[in-house]
Amino acid sequence: KEHIAEVEQFNADNKEAIEAFRIKYLGRRGLLNDFFAEFKNVPNEQKKEFGQVINQLKTAANEKVSSLNDALENKADEKGIYGDLSRPGEPIELGARHPISIVKNQIIDIFSRIGFNVSEGPEIEDDWHNFTALNLPEYHPARDMQDTFFIQTDPDILLRTHTSSVQVRYMEENKPPIRTISPGRVYRNEAISARSHCFFHQVEGLYIDKDVSFADLKQTLQYFTTEMFGKSKIRLRPSYFPFTEPSAEVDVYWGLETETDYKMTKGTGWLEIMGCGMVDPNVLENCGIDSKEYSGFAFGMGIDRIALLLYQISDIRMFSENDIRFLEQFKSAL
Ligand code: PHE
Repeated sequence: KEHIAEVEQFNADNKEAIEAFRIKYLGRRGLLNDFFAEFKNVPNEQKKEFGQVINQLKTAANEKVSSLNDALENKADEKGIYGDLSRPGEPIELGARHPISIVKNQIIDIFSRIGFNVSEGPEIEDDWHNFTALNLPEYHPARDMQDTFFIQTDPDILLRTHTSSVQVRYMEENKPPIRTISPGRVYRNEAISARSHCFFHQVEGLYIDKDVSFADLKQTLQYFTTEMFGKSKIRLRPSYFPFTEPSAEVDVYWGLETETDYKMTKGTGWLEIMGCGMVDPNVLENCGIDSKEYSGFAFGMGIDRIALLLYQISDIRMFSENDIRFLEQFKSAL
């Protein structure tokens, strides 16, 4: 009976003391086992009482141990991570960067190493910055090259079809020398399919200084493709853009590894990755830059297209579906 009182009074606030208490009473060589062993020596008339008391003691000891352990756990919970330093850490679920962001950051990185800064502008643009200043006056047939979304009924306000609009803004606000790239989302009213979407992402670049030549452009592009794709060849095909003269389309020779690569190059091994050219003097003048003193080049590429290629993705719509199973795959990327 004294033991019952002792058990009931017992208190402890650490694991070790509780465990010592448990062993003392409930352990294999503990007091209770001793009492149970004693039981057969107890005279018959006392057996009943003796039995009741040791059973009470057993219950009391068990209850004490579990209530002290509960209290200790609660205390640890209250103190959070400091409650019990031996508890295993809780895993933190890390997110992944979106593949478009990964590729965009890579492109920014490559051009920033040769002195380009990053400029941004609005996605809702006016006609001047998206078209007119870029040598695309109203009714110019080349406007049809980029199917445009207009905002309500105002033909002056639209969703930018390229980030060349940002370059116009940059030229209006900054004096040469200019070295800037403009990453951003652009919109075109095109049918949505595995290969094209009504919005996508571009990085356009602009370089303006004295005596900038086509050779500078070509060398810059070769530097870019080598950094982006590894050892690679480029080829420039004559093309047309209203804001550059001469203009060219840039193809990169892509090491064909899979069927998808091959399809993307239309079976030639050459993949078209961007448009470029020498900035048309009219555009410089429209933006307040003296075209007799300065010249420059510009280029523009689609980030989505490059990301499709680099990550072997077969459908451009995956970029905007937010399917967690797709996004999670980029956890180990940059
Ligand atoms: N703005 C063009 C497009 O979106 C790309 C481009 C940029 C071409 C600069 C030439 C020079 O298609």
